[in-house]
Amino acid sequence: MTFVRACGLGELEEDTPKRVELGGTPVSIVQTEGEVFAIHDICSHANVSLAEGEVDDCHIECWLHGSRFDLRSGKPDALPATRPVPVYPVQIDGDDVLVSLTQES
Ligand code: FES
Repeated sequence: MTFVRACGLGELEEDTPKRVELGGTPVSIVQTEGEVFAIHDICSHANVSLAEGEVDDCHIECWLHGSRFDLRSGKPDALPATRPVPVYPVQIDGDDVLVSLTQES
């Protein structure tokens, strides 16, 4: 599994997603509830950036139609989205947030 630097830990604000591009892949980095998560930044329902949605209870909400995706699994908990969004392993190395795109879970 190869990890690449996504951003600095100090760049993250609690419950405020940060959109990054990793090798052309849009990824939302989210710090919430003492953990950092990485989730693909496109809703599985339509071509909408999840980073513009709100974070609550370890979920990120799509601002367009309101489906909420679990940051741990990528699964939606409400319609209209029915398919999960890829989530990626995260490592913290000092002040660096590292993400691996090679193994989606
Ligand atoms: S575009 Fe995200 S729920 Fe419809």
